[in-house]
Amino acid sequence: MRAVEFQEYGGPEVLKVVEAEVPEPGPGQVSIDVAYTGVNFADLKARGEGYRVPHLPFVPGLEASGRIRALGEGVEGLAVGQEVTALTEGGAYADVTLASAETVFPIPTGVDLRTAATLPTVLPTAYALVHSVGRLQPGETVLVQGAAGGVGTVVGQLAKAAGARAVYGVVSGEAKAAYAREYGYDEVFVGEFGEAVRAATDGRGVDLALDPVGGDTFRASLASLAPFGRLVSFGNASSAPAWSVGQPELYPSGVSVAGFSILTLAKTAPGALRALAGRAFAKAVDGTVSLPVTAEFGLEEAAEAHRLMGTRTSTGKLLLRVGG
Ligand SMILES: NC(=O)c1ccc[n+]([C@@H]2O[C@H](COP(=O)([O-])OP(=O)(O)OC[C@H]3O[C@@H](n4cnc5c(N)ncnc54)[C@H](OP(=O)(O)O)[C@@H]3O)[C@@H](O)[C@H]2O)c1
Repeated sequence: MRAVEFQEYGGPEVLKVVEAEVPEPGPGQVSIDVAYTGVNFADLKARGEGYRVPHLPFVPGLEASGRIRALGEGVEGLAVGQEVTALTEGGAYADVTLASAETVFPIPTGVDLRTAATLPTVLPTAYALVHSVGRLQPGETVLVQGAAGGVGTVVGQLAKAAGARAVYGVVSGEAKAAYAREYGYDEVFVGEFGEAVRAATDGRGVDLALDPVGGDTFRASLASLAPFGRLVSFGNASSAPAWSVGQPELYPSGVSVAGFSILTLAKTAPGALRALAGRAFAKAVDGTVSLPVTAEFGLEEAAEAHRLMGTRTSTGKLLLRVGG
């Protein structure tokens, strides 16, 4: 079978198409004939910096839709040939991938295999950011970094549907700002946002800020909070050194900082992930959110997809077509 792997860390050019053995599912796993694979920013972090890469060579890819090829020992409730979508621990840039049965989901009624590949990472992540971790209440205000991206476009829609009074986004360019406005954002700031947020909120700040960028952006997001506001850190796209927050920034203004990782949830509490995914997928089925696929590449063009996302010119969700 074909797989796209990297044998060293580096730019998109380190992604190589190779012939690999078809993997056999171990106990509690299934193998999937992949139809489509979603491209995530975490794949670029894996390729460039070794983010969650246990060893080299490594086949990236955290989500795939397709048909179950084989069941490992002890797997119940799934069947060979069934159409599913799955969160994986890497390995989805391939004709066949493995997944823990606990993170394999039947495709919701009315969803096709292509759309199904967009569901596993960004939708539950966005749902957790807005609801479970961010605890957004009707009438509150929200600030979202990377508003035009995969997670960002879903967060905007979910926050608006949850009754947010105003949803503010931050992006790196004007074209992305126009795009984000189609997905729930009331106002989108390009680049610097601290003063703009204060002006938009009459100096009060926002109730909830969501930051996947880290570094200075994380600190500016913290400074943009209203009294008793919440900041959720869920990534470090800027690859800045680790941030730290101390007592002076927190209790005097009553703000709090939380974190979220869907991969850690999948590993440590798969039951909670399934419950989260169920609630989140329902939002796509009932039309509350749409998951815009803006670019589709063949599996062998994975490096092109990485170039597009890595140059910060992508919007919405990118897919690799494998067998689909
Ligand atoms: N914790 C979790 O569970 C979880 C799950 C999924 C994703 N994430 C994180 O959420 C973010 C979005 O992921 P995605 O897969 O949906 O990707 P994406 O948003 O479609 O694309 C990457 C995003 O990162 C921003 N970006 C790229 N390079 C950057 C840089 N050097 N500095 C600042 N921002 C940069 C871009 O926004 P602008 O160019 O507009 O700034 C773009 O929106 C990533 O940081 C990812 O790691 C976290």
